[in-house]
Amino acid sequence: MTRLVEKLCIGIVVGSTRPGRRGDQVAEWVAAVSRAHVPTVDVEVVDIAAQGLPLLDEPIPAAIGDYRNSHTRAWSDVVRRFDGFVFVVPEYNHSAPAAVKNAIDYLFTEWNDKAAGFVGYGLHGGVRAVEHLRGALAEVKVACVRSQVALSLFTDFAIDDMTAPGTFTPAEHHTAQLQRTVDEVVSWSAALRAVRTRGDGASCSDEAPFTMLIEFEVPPPRQHEFADRLRTYIAQSLPAVDGFLSARVQASLDGSTVINYAQWTSRTAWEKATGLSAAETGPRTHRNWAERRRDQWFDEAHGPNPVVALLTEVGGSTRSVTAFARSALVESGAGAA
Ligand SMILES: Cc1cc2nc3c(=O)[nH]c(=O)nc-3n(C[C@H](O)[C@H](O)[C@H](O)COP(=O)(O)O)c2cc1C
Repeated sequence: MTRLVEKLCIGIVVGSTRPGRRGDQVAEWVAAVSRAHVPTVDVEVVDIAAQGLPLLDEPIPAAIGDYRNSHTRAWSDVVRRFDGFVFVVPEYNHSAPAAVKNAIDYLFTEWNDKAAGFVGYGLHGGVRAVEHLRGALAEVKVACVRSQVALSLFTDFAIDDMTAPGTFTPAEHHTAQLQRTVDEVVSWSAALRAVRTRGDGASCSDEAPFTMLIEFEVPPPRQHEFADRLRTYIAQSLPAVDGFLSARVQASLDGSTVINYAQWTSRTAWEKATGLSAAETGPRTHRNWAERRRDQWFDEAHGPNPVVALLTEVGGSTRSVTAFARSALVESGAGAA
């Protein structure tokens, strides 16, 4: 039997944002060694500096998952794509750079049930930076592997002038240690995929090629009318689609009503993926969907949505669309995870 399995994707996070940093040379080495060592895994460099994240400016804690800023959503989109990470971090004042801690603090579910490994560097191998990151990442439910690489500014870089980055010249033994670290990250990332698929993270099963969640805001007094009409539409659509549709109404933080409308292609697949009965939709479900997209994305990719038309009629608006499509699929043999 041949099954479709989504390729594992590992992000190499550049933990320093300083102009003239040494971190980008280290990250390129980590990416090159990883790609050669685990060619079946997608390896991408993730540069926090390129995200343009200010010091945390979200009014609501990330664990609630209600992001207000486009930079947060963009960062969320990036982190959600990965199954695991290797953090490349220098030591700054006996800890990790504030930029990497800030980038972690911005998100929550996007990190959950994933694995991480570390490549530290500094005067003493960046070990104190890594220790501090292990604590922060544990709090966002990242499993941190034991092996780590500790690079020394004295022996792994050729630096003539301390004000310039110099050249990264890693001692040979670091390659094997990095390979061990990457092996552990890949192994735990693959294992944790089962946990995420079960319902607390990005859910996507073989039978569910497309899933989306749309949040609506409908002005009073039409909220209940909209909800009723949506339920009617859903009830009528049920026999016509190979899937399950549902709606619920809840109060949002600013007092207006938010209606969540979820659609997926296969009820069985959804139940299998989330471990929930299809009748149970709730906040937990909301946090399951893998990628947040702007409203326009749906229209562009899928044409006019009858539910959106209904919404326009009652004077409401779409607040967010959260969706994922299956991508980067590879064929694997029987028994593949
Ligand atoms: C603000 C700051 C604080 C630092 N503190 C430490 C430290 O406590 N321990 C250490 O080993 N290296 C320390 N260093 C040296 C850095 O680890 C080293 O400069 C490294 O190259 C910084 O990474 P980057 O070039 O990618 O920014 C510090 C560097 C900076 C810029």
